[in-house]
Amino acid sequence: MEAHEEKKSAGQATIKVCLHRKCCEKGAEDIYKNLKEGLTKEEALVLPIHECFGFCKDGPNIAINDNIVKGVRPFTVVELVRSELDNPSCKADGLGSKSIDMLDDILENIEKL
Ligand code: FES
Repeated sequence: MEAHEEKKSAGQATIKVCLHRKCCEKGAEDIYKNLKEGLTKEEALVLPIHECFGFCKDGPNIAINDNIVKGVRPFTVVELVRSELDNPSCKADGLGSKSIDMLDDILENIEKL
């Protein structure tokens, strides 16, 4: 069974790691590896995601239960995830959302129509 086919169990968090090009250039593969090795299966299901989250300039990025956490570092990411799971902070960006800059571009293009 491949990593992305693993089943999620009750109470288990889902951590998605952006492994698209820009985040990989900034160390996302080490982040993914450290999360897989550092978190237990009871704590989290860690999934590699090969589609860009849309926040490249702030990467490398992960999503904890679909809340994006930006600019994570390989050697602190496991503790960061545990801290977020214990005490989730309010995040402005969810997975699948667009950054304000991207929304500005979309609005500008709509105004030109
Ligand atoms: S490449 Fe990771 S957010 Fe775009």
